[in-house]
Amino acid sequence: MFIKGEIEVAPDKSISHRALMISAIAEGTSRIKNFLKADDCISTMNCLKKLGVDIAEKDGEIIVKGNGLKLKGSSAILDAGNSGTTVRLLSGILVGQNFTTKITGDESLSKRPMKRIVEPLEKMGAKMKSKNGYLPIEIEGGNLKPINYDSKISSAQVKSCVLFAGLSAAGVTSFTEPEQSRDHTERMLKNFGAKVEINKNTVSIKGIAKLHPSDVFIPGDISSAAFFVVAVAIVKNSELKIKNVGVNPTRTGIIDVLKRMCAKIEIENKREIAGEPIADIIVKSSDLKSTNIERSEIPLLIDEIPIIAVAATQAEGITKITGAKELRVKETDRLKAMSSELRKMGADIQELEDGLIIKGPTKLKGAKVDSYKDHRIAMSLAIASLIAEGKTEILDKDCVNISFPEFWCLFGKIKQ
Ligand code: S3P
Repeated sequence: MFIKGEIEVAPDKSISHRALMISAIAEGTSRIKNFLKADDCISTMNCLKKLGVDIAEKDGEIIVKGNGLKLKGSSAILDAGNSGTTVRLLSGILVGQNFTTKITGDESLSKRPMKRIVEPLEKMGAKMKSKNGYLPIEIEGGNLKPINYDSKISSAQVKSCVLFAGLSAAGVTSFTEPEQSRDHTERMLKNFGAKVEINKNTVSIKGIAKLHPSDVFIPGDISSAAFFVVAVAIVKNSELKIKNVGVNPTRTGIIDVLKRMCAKIEIENKREIAGEPIADIIVKSSDLKSTNIERSEIPLLIDEIPIIAVAATQAEGITKITGAKELRVKETDRLKAMSSELRKMGADIQELEDGLIIKGPTKLKGAKVDSYKDHRIAMSLAIASLIAEGKTEILDKDCVNISFPEFWCLFGKIKQ
């Protein structure tokens, strides 16, 4: 078996969420091209519809009739499903409304920490109730004051939440994080006319803002492309072109790390659309070498650590990943999930409190493994199964619908 061809992967999940939310609070009609129709983004869409935002689909585009910062809706109960981005970003918009909202989520989301957004929002004057820092949370909208917030964690979700709230606070709100996280919110808010300034790891926004509508094009998701990039690197005699992938420098840590591991990767046809860089990625079978990944690099590849762990099982030497404690509070505990499931497949992998140590190369064998209903775990294990001897069975494999509904279809298609 080898991999050959040319593919496109799912549109970017982070940018799709932001396109819906920012369009919803702009004054007028925005069009979103290449929107990701996956469960997480549909959760955001349904929440916004419940809040009175007019969202329709026409000729494959999503048309959003924004109503300005004050939504038309009234008190509502919203279901964010599995999506951390939906709860955390939307909360920043809801604190500025003149009604009360309650947000719930599924079993996984109900175990994920919300104190990280409750704390800055309360500092801005928001009235919030939560179950000890977990869902459900209740937000009583009202007047907000600007803050300068120094975050202990690097998180694009927390940053975006504070920036959204800052739009409704009279004055300049700023957010500082230890390392810069993905900057899609900053880029898109600028395109919609917000006054955003970036100085190293600090972003400031001026409120009270008035956003104008805009057209958004969603590039392919580099986090989805990552599964196929690693697949080709570890499967012999393979070559693949992945077209139209977002290559925002706050997301391309995976490319830097794989190149450091001696992966044969080329970036071609680089251009910019609607404020986001986009390119084609060409990857070939590679003889991988181990590497070290430390805290400062983690935000640039936060969602790619599970698939990097798979690559590391095939790399010569010891790969050490540290400073990645945040992985314990994603859709599942991803450090625990990857070490236990890859070990079942024969990998030499050790779990650290804040990372992983993987010794390679090891021959993997097929096994019955658990995705823990986490989309990125399911897809990482699927790629591991390509080089495993024997059959691999992945439990709850349909969870790929959270971010990449076409995954299994593409997975079947690229294999020759
Ligand atoms: C996201 C940011 C990241 C990432 C998540 C999506 C976003 O979370 O893990 O999948 O769209 O802002 P954190 O910023 O909380 O690390």
